[in-house]
Amino acid sequence: MGVILRFHRDCKDLAMDKFVIRGGNPLLGTIRVSGAKNAALPAMAAALLTDEPVILENIPQVRDIETTRKLLAAMGAEVELGYGRALHRTTICARNLASPEASYELVKQMRASSLVLGPLVARCGRARVSLPGGCAIGARPIDLHIQGLEQLGAKITQDHGYVEATADRLRGGEIVFEKITVTGTEDLLMAATLADGETVLQNCAREPEVADLANLLNKMGAQVEGAGTSTIRVKGVSQLHGAKHRIIPDRIEAATFVIAAALTGGDLNIAGCDSSHLQALLNKLHEVGVKTAQSTESVRVMGDAPFKATDIITEEYPGFPTDMQAQYMALATQAEGTSIITENIFENRFMHVSELMRMGANIKVEGRRAVVRGKTPLSAAAVQASDLRASASLVLAALVCEGESIIDRVYHIDRGYENIEEKLRGVGAQIRRIGEILPKRAAVPSARA
Ligand code: EPZ
Repeated sequence: MGVILRFHRDCKDLAMDKFVIRGGNPLLGTIRVSGAKNAALPAMAAALLTDEPVILENIPQVRDIETTRKLLAAMGAEVELGYGRALHRTTICARNLASPEASYELVKQMRASSLVLGPLVARCGRARVSLPGGCAIGARPIDLHIQGLEQLGAKITQDHGYVEATADRLRGGEIVFEKITVTGTEDLLMAATLADGETVLQNCAREPEVADLANLLNKMGAQVEGAGTSTIRVKGVSQLHGAKHRIIPDRIEAATFVIAAALTGGDLNIAGCDSSHLQALLNKLHEVGVKTAQSTESVRVMGDAPFKATDIITEEYPGFPTDMQAQYMALATQAEGTSIITENIFENRFMHVSELMRMGANIKVEGRRAVVRGKTPLSAAAVQASDLRASASLVLAALVCEGESIIDRVYHIDRGYENIEEKLRGVGAQIRRIGEILPKRAAVPSARA
């Protein structure tokens, strides 16, 4: 219920939300993982490829999903977000796409909006999508999406901050990605399903979210082979139909809980995840000294410090995920010795460092490397979240701080973690959400009195 209420609140209200976290409790019991945000977003975009309804199950209740709903609705699609017992079901019917456009207003809120580019040009012959611009973690251009579409025969123009792609019908071709890109692979994979002839995509992202998208597309009548490997082959078809699909579990949410359990010295069963998607993290944690037991659908973590400092390098899947770098850093502050954390995917993904240092961590950033010297006791502080995973790292650190921390700007965490405070509270964390209690004007009379 808390989640529904949260979505009914105005964005401006949410911007004021903070978490108050008192550290020191071990996490005990079972915590359940939601559907993967990063699989749900391309799946929702894929619904643009057909005029029939696409029913998606296990959609997480997070803000990026709400942004995608607005994005698709603005084009003319009907999007029904579930409620009650069907809270995690979303049905999308893109029968009438009156306006195949993604406005700056929405793209600036969520860069993954560029995922609509490929499906729109493939289905409608035209797409106009705002260029995303930079963001807190790096420049993040979409040049590879654009080049790929050109290779499939789209005519691309750029003006006033928008990219416009047109094509009577895309034609199959060979695309070799210069750099591995997750949403780039997904965007072109979707575009290729309706192209004339065969497309071969090389040097693709191998993330489980790409394979999940391909499974959905195949249920819709596409002919995709090889998703989850570096080479994907797509035989274009003339049209796709409706389908029903269950989104895979969120491996980054699961991995965040794994670290939370380890850090707090808890005994936590992380249920409803796919442990095969967590191998890079779990292998690292074994070197650190964290004990885990895995089954296919759950991971049990038995946190038992001391931890040993261990280096990580972020890489594309199946390597160590960049989306877990910030959370791993919180753990590294509690390991004995020096951990070197190298961020290879994004050039500016160390915004959490200065906030962790305010809590007592000893970290030095040298270009793409952060050198963490541990173990340092952490003490509660008021800190600010700067992006989604940075916020998660601050929550983790606060769980082991002495005293009560206040984390500001938690709207970042609401973009990608479903109801995190309730989930953590359910396994023993002392965490609560507070909004701005009094409107600003109310303070004036009392100041005069
Ligand atoms: C996806 O972003 C994820 N988002 C990100 O998750 C994740 O951090 C990232 O992949 C890397 O794993 C979604 O799936 C919705 P990329 P994406 O294209 O696809 C460069 C989270 O916290 N690049 O794989 O945007 C780019 O700048 C988020 O949930 C180009 O140069 O990332 C980066 O250095 C944040 N040109 C590298 O490639 C392009 O056209 C990888 O980025 C595209 C990308």
